[in-house]
Amino acid sequence: MAHEVRGVVATGKGKPVSLETVLVPDPGPGEALVRVQACGVCHTDLHYREGGINDDFPFLLGHEAAGVVESVGDGVTDVAPGDFVILNWRAVCGSCRACLRGRPQYCFATHNATQKMTLADGTPLSPALGIGAFAEKTLVAAGQCTKVDPAASPAAAGLLGCGVMAGLGAAVNTGGVSRGDSVAVIGCGGVGNAAIAGARLVGATTIIAVDVDGRKLEWARGLGATHTVDAKDGDPVAAIRELTGGFGADVVIDAVGRPETYQQAFYARDLAGTVVLVGVPTPEMTLELPLLDVFGRGGALKSSWYGDCLPSRDFPMLISLYLQGRLDLDAFVSETIALDEVEDAFAKMHRGEVLRSVVAL
Ligand SMILES: NC(=O)c1ccc[n+]([C@@H]2O[C@H](COP(=O)([O-])OP(=O)(O)OC[C@H]3O[C@@H](n4cnc5c(N)ncnc54)[C@H](O)[C@@H]3O)[C@@H](O)[C@H]2O)c1
Ligand SMILES: [Zn+2]
Ligand SMILES: [Zn+2]
Repeated sequence: MAHEVRGVVATGKGKPVSLETVLVPDPGPGEALVRVQACGVCHTDLHYREGGINDDFPFLLGHEAAGVVESVGDGVTDVAPGDFVILNWRAVCGSCRACLRGRPQYCFATHNATQKMTLADGTPLSPALGIGAFAEKTLVAAGQCTKVDPAASPAAAGLLGCGVMAGLGAAVNTGGVSRGDSVAVIGCGGVGNAAIAGARLVGATTIIAVDVDGRKLEWARGLGATHTVDAKDGDPVAAIRELTGGFGADVVIDAVGRPETYQQAFYARDLAGTVVLVGVPTPEMTLELPLLDVFGRGGALKSSWYGDCLPSRDFPMLISLYLQGRLDLDAFVSETIALDEVEDAFAKMHRGEVLRSVVAL
């Protein structure tokens, strides 16, 4: 029997999203049906709506969520009805070449639910990042459910499902930031500010936040930035160098994902430093750099998918730090909204008014 729920659907490129009736099948083998409690609005949802990811419209948006497992299909043993879970988009396969080499955080064959959720007329939906959680219920692969302590608020916990994990992991996992490091983060939305919180968590001593919006820089200070740079006021590369003894930062994180911010990150890092790209570029963007600078400056140029996280390892640990008061996930929740306010939330995100709007269900 399919469950009839309301969900936020992007029907075509650039078109405002709409609230539609969505049919969610009962879980089949290896699947779980989850009653969504909260789902954050991530910039990637907007990328989907704008056709920046692919053309598989209609999309069921939302992918940064927490909820309670309602039922599971045959063969599911890791989660059970009643479990409080964060949904992840890295359900590892255990058998691809990355998994077999003991690097499941890079799993190249992650899985999602097999059955399709549909519109009322049977049109299959493409769930954003294989999740589709701007809906009262969603169907995922059981491996996409990571059980965490139910003492956490769903709005805060859900943020680990994408943006906060992506940013925090870009600093801590991909960038390898550790105590005593200097770090600069370009772009301080939900993702960049999570990189800042991560850098503080592991003991970076200089944490420089760069944005073009003063409000974001203020939030960044609250989350751990020791210095802020408004890129509207001049060259951020010069400012970052000045704040790091003239050398540049050990790790620079580009949480915008444009050629110009990547170039800034490249030149704002110290010799042998690391650049981490976590912002998502669009297909037409290209980059030109003197190859001699790529060579001569040494170090590492990395990109970070989902903060190179392993949900089963990282989500319970970060929820534990949150519950101990050592990681302020609540600071990322700027507002809670209803399902029919996602389009407004995109506009607020565009205007820079929020770190995260979170749909509460
Ligand atoms: N790699 C991943 O796994 C992953 C996961 C989630 C999101 N993302 C991507 O991360 C990026 C950021 O996401 P978000 O939700 O934080 O978005 P956001 O829109 O909330 O934040 C972007 C920030 O960048 C700032 N900015 C824009 N242009 C700038 C410039 N030239 N210099 C400095 N700052 C500038 C904006 O003012 C804003 O504060 C997006 O591209 C998103 O798709 C990547
Ligand atoms: Zn794998
Ligand atoms: Zn996201």
